[in-house]
Amino acid sequence: MKIIINSADKISEIAATMIADHAKAHPGCAMAFAAGRTTKRVYQALAAMNVKELAGCKAFTVCEFEGLEEGDKRSCAYRLNDELYSKVGITNIFTPTADDADKFDAEIESCGGLELAVLGIGTNGHIGFNEPATPYDSYTRSVLLTDKTKQMNAKLFGGAENVPDKAVTMGLKTICEAKNVILVAFGSEKAEIIHQLVYGKTTTYVPAAMLQMHMNMTLLLDEEAAEKIK
Ligand code: GLP
Repeated sequence: MKIIINSADKISEIAATMIADHAKAHPGCAMAFAAGRTTKRVYQALAAMNVKELAGCKAFTVCEFEGLEEGDKRSCAYRLNDELYSKVGITNIFTPTADDADKFDAEIESCGGLELAVLGIGTNGHIGFNEPATPYDSYTRSVLLTDKTKQMNAKLFGGAENVPDKAVTMGLKTICEAKNVILVAFGSEKAEIIHQLVYGKTTTYVPAAMLQMHMNMTLLLDEEAAEKIK
């Protein structure tokens, strides 16, 4: 695992440059994008770079809340379109739904597999919405959200009680089959889980720790998120 530590602004630029480089080196490739406050900063930096090759890429949304209307501003699909896809001209967009979850991995496969997956991390170690105790061999499917994840998303929904109970997410296997993975984390609230990701046992209770075994994994951290691994 490669680890890069710098300021949040610089890390956002580095992550954006990595995404741009993959788009340039592999025209039309498939990439997976996670929504979140952290990755939003990366997408802002990426949109500002005006990388024309991005428009031809195929974008797979890592996860989505269930039960929201199409166009709901809280949905991952809406936010990713607003923050990234519409800004860089990506029109080939795939978002998993509960109904087609079992076909999502085949769709990725038919696009040549994921060249790159861009991830954030939950304070409980989730990636996408793969919560603790997710099996390593999981593919895209419908899942129940934990209370901790609902708390993390409470602001977006005006209270944890309003966060949907279920979501659809790429599985750990889906993510780990990406040729390259970058995971971005900012802030001291992520420091403990980043320590577990880097040094912890690869147990299903820390889903992100599975990335220790990925051959092309880059962890991008600001100083605060890195404070327990320095
Ligand atoms: C959310 C999403 C993830 C996201 C993570 C971190 O619940 N399911 O895709 O990467 O948690 O979010 P944030 O960057 O807002 O802390």
